[in-house]
Amino acid sequence: QSSDSRVLLQMQADASKLYSHILTKTDGGTVPLKYLSDRNITTNLIDTFDIGYAPNNSNLLLEFFKNKNISEDILRKSGLFAENEDGDLFDRFRDRIMIPIKDENGKIIAFSGRILNKEQGVAKYLNSPETTIFNKGKTLFNLNLAKRGIREQKNVILFEGFMDVMSAYAAGVTNGVASMGTSLTDQQLYVLNRSTNQINVCYDGDDPGVEATYRALTQLNDERFTYGVISIPNKQDPDEFIRSSGADKFKQLTENSVQTPISFILSYFRRRYNLNNEHDQLEFLKQSLQEIVKLKSPVEIDMYVGRVAEELQVSKESINKELDNLRRKNA
Ligand code: UTP
Ligand code: MN
Ligand code: MN
Ligand code: MN
Ligand code: MN
Repeated sequence: QSSDSRVLLQMQADASKLYSHILTKTDGGTVPLKYLSDRNITTNLIDTFDIGYAPNNSNLLLEFFKNKNISEDILRKSGLFAENEDGDLFDRFRDRIMIPIKDENGKIIAFSGRILNKEQGVAKYLNSPETTIFNKGKTLFNLNLAKRGIREQKNVILFEGFMDVMSAYAAGVTNGVASMGTSLTDQQLYVLNRSTNQINVCYDGDDPGVEATYRALTQLNDERFTYGVISIPNKQDPDEFIRSSGADKFKQLTENSVQTPISFILSYFRRRYNLNNEHDQLEFLKQSLQEIVKLKSPVEIDMYVGRVAEELQVSKESINKELDNLRRKNA
């Protein structure tokens, strides 16, 4: 590890201590603490995830690190600052709840900052840029804590948002991680494969979340894993579901309601098409067959052929014939 990296890591740790101090020990923390408690984020969770607050101040960290004689070059490499038109540095994170992003050993390598109130033209979450110590494709939020839960549960749950990961953790679902806003990379899959062979996707239940789940399933084809889907009802996200339905209901959902990819995909097609119209019926059939033909287990094939037959109110034999035609075409 280069001496730069050591300093950059120390800076993230120092910044986190300062942000935590401001949140929990100063008057500046009153409003953000209220925001967090309104979201059911307890002091215990604040401590577990080292959540902090960056006040609305452009040179809090700047002064702090200048007093520690950190060079301008290192300040620029830290990802903690942005630059104005004149090339002067200022604090990147202002008036945001600060969520540290840690590597798998728990060392802080970056931050994600959430605004307190909706503001036009301001991103809800702002993440650190990539730096020599923060590679998005190598990082999974909460892997440091989740490793144990992943081994115990023999699966990892992939969430959309950091808030979902933290709420789930507080609810006793401790095997959750989130990627840094992209689909899983080979490096992330490699790391996960050391602990598990099962990835359960638990994205938001709203339309963008359902679309993202479908996309994730079509992209996740690493043969070392089997995949599952945990669907959140009522268009809620996992965090909202936990708040409205409670930790126990959520735990049950993650343990007893894991769908196979084909089951999710057929429901997804079912919703996409209007089965009262013939054109849509045929599209639904075509798309569904293209997924069923990929299955290997005869029992599974029979189950989902049955489901498609039922949806279209036709015989299983006719669906099986269509499937044979498709197999011959593909051969
Ligand atoms: P969501 O809009 O679902 O946010 O985006 P959320 O996780 O539910 O957050 P809360 O509950 O409103 O606080 C899902 C994820 O997409 C990324 C974040 O990682 C977020 O958790 N995102 C979203 C951004 O990076 N920037 C944004 O402006 C919005
Ligand atoms: Mn702590
Ligand atoms: Mn979402
Ligand atoms: Mn969400
Ligand atoms: Mn949310």
